[in-house]
Amino acid sequence: MNRVKKGALFLVTLSFLLGLTSCGNKINEETKEIKIGVTLYKGNDTFINDIRKEIEALVKNKEEAEVCKITIDFVDANGSVINQGNQIDRFISREYDVICVNLVDRTAAATIIDKAKDADIPLVFFNREPVEEDMNRWNKLYYVGAQAEQSARMQGNIVIKAFETDKSAVDKNGDGKLQYVILEGELGHQDAAIRTEYCVKSVMERGFELERLADESANWQSDQGNEKMTNWIKEFGNSIEVVFSNNDEMALGAVYALKTAQVPKEHWPVVVGVDGINEALEAVKDGTMEGTVLSDTQVQATNIVNIAYALAIGQSLEEVSPIRNGKYVLVPHKEITKENIDDFIKRPKIKEIK
Ligand code: GAL
Ligand code: CA
Repeated sequence: MNRVKKGALFLVTLSFLLGLTSCGNKINEETKEIKIGVTLYKGNDTFINDIRKEIEALVKNKEEAEVCKITIDFVDANGSVINQGNQIDRFISREYDVICVNLVDRTAAATIIDKAKDADIPLVFFNREPVEEDMNRWNKLYYVGAQAEQSARMQGNIVIKAFETDKSAVDKNGDGKLQYVILEGELGHQDAAIRTEYCVKSVMERGFELERLADESANWQSDQGNEKMTNWIKEFGNSIEVVFSNNDEMALGAVYALKTAQVPKEHWPVVVGVDGINEALEAVKDGTMEGTVLSDTQVQATNIVNIAYALAIGQSLEEVSPIRNGKYVLVPHKEITKENIDDFIKRPKIKEIK
């Protein structure tokens, strides 16, 4: 036996002894099935659905590139903590390798964590961040999300840019202040609280004056955004100069309200969202929204899949993801305005991930 063959044999034997499979390292031909369970807080949330689609595409690619079979099962908790608890129980009793959790109630992760810990099944939370105390309950907990403060600062920057480009088009009553309303996301959601605080703060920090007209939660939803905005148009008439929306769905709801109220172009406020969902990109393109901030579903999904996969095959996480404090991946955002919109509308689909 030559040295190369001896080496190969040694590696195969070693991989057996260490319990490694062919997945990921292709050392032997034996295939293993990896099972990943994903529970979504609400399957009909547009942004969450975009993450889901990206995850599915990535898993498909990964499966083709690797030797092993990956089963990924998505379940929809439909806004119910009880449903989500049951879904986690089922994933645990069916011995899934990893469970990815988009929490219904981000302040109540303890029960889920304790069950997973008992069964020694790692958890990858995403989009709805557990509180720090819960994240410290075990060392096999991870969180993939976005940099909320940055998204708000970028919204602020889009508003400032619009103002600096054409002052009278934004400060319509010419009083030197920007009269604004805020459509907030779900109360208690980390992104909603942080985006609400910093969109305004970031503009003020740069020396601009703002005046708040109204600020209400529309729970991430376009119909509620439409309803709030319809009321505000009735109440404040044409004095709304800026609409900060914690996400695109609600911003689109506001745009719908402005259209329904037949607000003319010269009174149309600057509307900014976050997420970068398709319909919002169209709205930026046609000018009904000034801009949005991309919360990159492709990058978030890539991290979720890479971390889940690495955990399932026992690969080191440092190799696959830029993890902070051993637990967190916070993906950066990008500003989207009319200037660069075509780069995003024509964004190529995922090809391959390593
Ligand atoms: C936010 C996102 C919202 C909504 C929410 C759900 O990050 O901007 O559109 O999807 O997550 O948790
Ligand atoms: Ca003004």
